[in-house]
Amino acid sequence: MPIDMLDKSTTDTAPALTPEVLRETAAIYEKVRHVIPEIEWPVHAPYVAAIQRLKVERKAIILAHNYQTPEIFHGIADLTGDSLALAREAAGTDVQTIVLCGVHFMAETAKLLNPSKTVLIPDLEAGCSLASSITGADVRLLKERYPGVPVVTYVNTSAEVKAESDICCTSANAVSVVESLDSDQVIFIPDEFLGRYVAGQTSKKIILWKGHCEVHEKFTAGDLRGYREQFKDIMVLAHPECPPDVLAEADYVGSTSGMINEVGSRRPRRVLMVTECSMSDNVAVEFPQIEFIRPCNLCPHMKKITLPKVLDSLQSMKHAVEIDPLVAERARQSVRRMLALGKQSTR
Ligand code: 13P
Ligand code: SF4
Repeated sequence: MPIDMLDKSTTDTAPALTPEVLRETAAIYEKVRHVIPEIEWPVHAPYVAAIQRLKVERKAIILAHNYQTPEIFHGIADLTGDSLALAREAAGTDVQTIVLCGVHFMAETAKLLNPSKTVLIPDLEAGCSLASSITGADVRLLKERYPGVPVVTYVNTSAEVKAESDICCTSANAVSVVESLDSDQVIFIPDEFLGRYVAGQTSKKIILWKGHCEVHEKFTAGDLRGYREQFKDIMVLAHPECPPDVLAEADYVGSTSGMINEVGSRRPRRVLMVTECSMSDNVAVEFPQIEFIRPCNLCPHMKKITLPKVLDSLQSMKHAVEIDPLVAERARQSVRRMLALGKQSTR
């Protein structure tokens, strides 16, 4: 396709950068200037201003996961957090439209908890390697193989998989969920490394599935030892989706929000977050005095969500998440059982 055509279609739909837009977004830029270079802000500002206006018109709220880029996380989101917090927020909201800036399973969870509301995901292809590692048929086979053993399912799964499960968990409450079950063995799916982490914190026998997060499985214990040699006084926080030898090197293991809370309460001088890239940027905005060392692995799925796609999503009310009502009814029970256990963390 000729380049001038591409340019024209882009500029036809892009909101304009005006002095008013810069005024409207000045306070937001002041907050994020530490992590977004000044030269980049004119690219984001027109979208931030347009989305801020349109979400009010549409009476929509925007939920954003901790891995979203700073211009989304700090620029347009009404509520932010880890998977558990987003599920809780989705359950508690009274607006008619939710735009989920995160991946598909998060939007599905929001829809399960709000069947009568419109839940939009700006890019339908924002998937997850854990969610695609297992199907409902796989879970049915596991249940045949281990009759009567309860199935604990990480929320990073499809509604179809949740529907075959007894209860869901997130990385923030996985140990408490497993401990809450009246059984001395548990099928834990699909994240092998989170399952191994849980197994180390409970006396119950854990039956694992070999699903991995394509982002966290890339970190190595050797990398972390290298960082510790280079930066003597560093605090290392790791997500439990990392391999066990990586977690053994960490000072703290927990969900994305668990890590943020730990940094907030300990206020170390230097921090290394062994997780997706945008986390450190988003947390650095809140704690500019802390030095963040950034071993960066991007989640390609989270990064499919961009400001232009969020604007398009609100303009065209797409992509609305739909779930087969029979599947949804059963999947909802698994999510609700988890939420009913209350706010508990891995540590
Ligand atoms: P959290 O629940 O800790 O936010 O993790 C979600 C996720 O996808 C991590 O890769
Ligand atoms: Fe899935 Fe890993 Fe991306 Fe989280 S970081 S959404 S677990 S692929």
